[in-house]
Amino acid sequence: MTSAEMRRAAEVLRSGGLVAFPTETVYGLGADASNSEAAARIFEVKNRPFFDPLIVHVGSLSHALNFAEFNETALQLARQFWPGPLTLVLPKKSGLADLVTSGLPTVGLRVPAHPAALDLLETSGLAVAAPSANPFGFLSPTTAEHVRTFLGNRVDMILDGGECSTGVESTILDVTGSVPVLLRPGGLALEAVRSFIGDVRSALMPQDRPSAPGQLDSHYAPRTPLEILSFDRIAADPRLSSAALLLARDPARALAAHAVEVLSPDGSLRRAAQNLFAAMHRLDQSGARIILAEPVREEGLGLAIMDRLRKASRRRAV
Ligand code: TXA
Ligand code: MG
Repeated sequence: MTSAEMRRAAEVLRSGGLVAFPTETVYGLGADASNSEAAARIFEVKNRPFFDPLIVHVGSLSHALNFAEFNETALQLARQFWPGPLTLVLPKKSGLADLVTSGLPTVGLRVPAHPAALDLLETSGLAVAAPSANPFGFLSPTTAEHVRTFLGNRVDMILDGGECSTGVESTILDVTGSVPVLLRPGGLALEAVRSFIGDVRSALMPQDRPSAPGQLDSHYAPRTPLEILSFDRIAADPRLSSAALLLARDPARALAAHAVEVLSPDGSLRRAAQNLFAAMHRLDQSGARIILAEPVREEGLGLAIMDRLRKASRRRAV
């Protein structure tokens, strides 16, 4: 990406346009967070319901302090984990379009750990509202090609920064109270947060009160139906020959399936997270009737992977 491209992208944002840009987690669909018309275009292009607030990206903690009230816990978390795959939900100050936060008194903020994203934030001087750059409810994009394929002509510019290194969205923590509450597991392992800050509660259980749409029942879904099954049940499944398989690691034997993706040959969960969405995109396009996915260990990034797989499996018929 050239510096001329970067200056043009910053100019597009400043004039109210939409720029898709890489972050370490997934590609974001960015707009000036102080501009309600620009923010409205994000919802329109993604076909996203207005009650679903956007994450605001800033270049530094000092810039973030303009937009939200940070308590001591929030400051410690930001100093420790920013730039990085952690979104902090905090009491909102002024300066952001109401639409960005869906009228909530809180805002989700993060400093992304990707050189192109940081360059864009610095060059534009803006706070940038950016959800993942995919149609609402569909698989998140981890390459510029995913964005081109599914949103292509609906965005003003796409910055290509290659493949995202983390591969799953940021971990979201509500830090408005005394104990942080996990709203969405993501690219920062919960164990890392807990060992740094101590107690963290989880709000992931009840599916009926979505305070983050990551919590909506069906999300992150391929168009092909997806079922989670153990490896042994996959191997014995009568639909095997017409199924696409999403395997956690290299199987000891070949299976005669329609298509196969291995998330992590050596079983590393970090690698599995990085490959997750790209593998699901490929399986979705393989023409298989069903995707059979093997579960991963629910530790480290495995928590985010299983969260995305479960949501993909709950896809409603459309
Ligand atoms: O890694 C990421 O977080 C990516 C990249 C682009 O930064 N972005 C992302 O955005 O995943 P999106 O829109 O797909 O998910 C944003 C999540 C939503 O589930 C939203 O509800 C939650 O953040 N969120 C944003 N503001 C919130 C708030 N004030 N209270 C509760 N949840 C909030
Ligand atoms: Mg999303």
